[in-house]
Amino acid sequence: MKNIRNFCIIAHIDHGKSTLADRLLDFTGSVTEREKQDQLLDNMDLERERGITIKSHAIQMDYVHNGEPFVLNLIDTPGHVDFSYEVSRSIAACEGALLVVDAAQSIQAQTISNLYLALEHDLEIIPVLNKVDLPSANPEEVTDDIVDLLGCDPEEVIPASAKTGIGIKDILTAIIDRIPAPEGDSSGQLQALVFDSVYNPFRGVETYFRILNGELKKGQKIKFMATGKDYFADEIGTLKLTQRPKQIISTGDVGYLITGIKDAREVKVGDTITLAENPSQDAIAGFEDVKPMVFAGIYPVDTEDFEELRSSMEKLQLNDASLVFTPESSAALGFGFRCGFLGMLHMEIIQERLEREFNMTVITTVPNVSYHAFTNKNPDDVVIVNNPTDLPEPSTLNRVEEPYIKATIITKSDFVGNVMSLCIDKRGQITNQTYLTTERVELNFDMPLAEIVFDFYDRLKTVSKGYASFDYSPIGMRSSKLVRVDILLNGQTVDALSALVHADNAYNIGKKMCEKLKELIPRQQFDIPIQAAIGAKIISRETIKALRKDVTAKCYGGDISRKRKLLEKQKKGKKRMRQVGNVEIPQQAFMAVLKLN
Ligand code: GTP
Repeated sequence: MKNIRNFCIIAHIDHGKSTLADRLLDFTGSVTEREKQDQLLDNMDLERERGITIKSHAIQMDYVHNGEPFVLNLIDTPGHVDFSYEVSRSIAACEGALLVVDAAQSIQAQTISNLYLALEHDLEIIPVLNKVDLPSANPEEVTDDIVDLLGCDPEEVIPASAKTGIGIKDILTAIIDRIPAPEGDSSGQLQALVFDSVYNPFRGVETYFRILNGELKKGQKIKFMATGKDYFADEIGTLKLTQRPKQIISTGDVGYLITGIKDAREVKVGDTITLAENPSQDAIAGFEDVKPMVFAGIYPVDTEDFEELRSSMEKLQLNDASLVFTPESSAALGFGFRCGFLGMLHMEIIQERLEREFNMTVITTVPNVSYHAFTNKNPDDVVIVNNPTDLPEPSTLNRVEEPYIKATIITKSDFVGNVMSLCIDKRGQITNQTYLTTERVELNFDMPLAEIVFDFYDRLKTVSKGYASFDYSPIGMRSSKLVRVDILLNGQTVDALSALVHADNAYNIGKKMCEKLKELIPRQQFDIPIQAAIGAKIISRETIKALRKDVTAKCYGGDISRKRKLLEKQKKGKKRMRQVGNVEIPQQAFMAVLKLN
């Protein structure tokens, strides 16, 4: 145990976490030439393309330091706020963290919030100044920033380049010298923290854990404390580049477990594994059931594909436990599902996976957060509103509450004004403003989550010319003046286009929605009036003028085989359109409310 070190890497996106991990693996000889790939830890296709570590994994390195063998477990952390709970569990499985800061870009919001998480768990922080090879690097200034932030000595900051290999040995030495060895009682009852799980279609769910106390032997009967279920530890082992089966894993170490579980929902990140016989009395603190933050409807483009969509979603859920869905029906779109996601990125990932892995063509409706409504009749009973159409009648409504977040934004002092007006425009209230240096400012706002979901991040980048980083955490529900804006096409309400918005913005949003839809919906053979309404009251109107020449008639006429062909073509080209009444609505139109400006 005294020669084990468990650590993670905290970094802002693109500051070099994956590159540094590769370099450490290289240096410790953990990878053979054949196994070498560019970004070793990012091995999901989608992940590689997006350059974001979606799922955390762990990898074990052997390293001899001053003639003494050490085992170094690097626990990878996802780099996106949608997955912040997983980050917190990975951090809880470590004794130390490398804080990687780009020498050209300095400290960003995501670095800070993950650093706070690491400090809360008493991790030893090793600051690494990465990319010192860059001509644009500012090593002195950025070292000062780090010293200010951590209150450490400048000598503790390790200059490095994950690209050229500068500083890699110093980092390994620091990991061994500065990060404490794990503590714990190997003869005590088993307590292992689940910090991640990965679905494997052949072997079932692979659970990644860190043992805090006790030991786990192959074949033992184990219990997951949060779910209360028992399984046999069919296979256990350590994680090198490939899995290495072992007979026993002991206190302080990190490993994987295979039990034949086929449903990802049975393995919860943050859960405690103990032995079924002689179990631990206490679960490891900090377990939470992750809750979806963003909801949207997913509908098949072709109504006939509903059952196929259902089976695809069920399969997806087997390997992504954070996806939740319930069937719903929309007057406009027919049968589909209301799905809950961890955030917008997670939503995009699910949509892409449905298309790539399951060959489904789907329409996604405007995402919304989960509101709490209370009626006059039962003012104490909460009505959960995950779909705008579920909002009770305005006349019966007592109040509505919406989720709020604490936003942390770090920007250059030049852009403070712009960022402030954007946040105030997004119903934010400033709670704090700190100058990290003369140039860099940290701003904190309390803001409605819904305003973040709607185009916030893009606008932040624009108003700050890219010099702003952003992170957030939930702070609970607050009462808000919300109304539902409905959209009518050709006089018919299209429920899938309804949105809940703040009353003060309703007119403006209604007007912009009509304008945007006019842009997005193709002209057809007849005039299409677009109206926005609150209840029975029309608040805005636009008209899509009819096409003069009838170019689409032959496609949409009586010839059914032609129409089918066209649909096939659309499916292939991923051109998502949905017929609502007699109007063809393209996918972008369902997202129009996100793109208003
Ligand atoms: P995410 O996986 O998106 O969180 O990013 P990351 O933090 O893992 O960053 P990644 O390792 O993918 O590096 C981002 C970019 O910076 C890549 O283009 C790397 O080649 C480059 N990079 C990383 N380290 C260095 C370095 O020390 N010097 C230079 N010049 N470039 C580096």
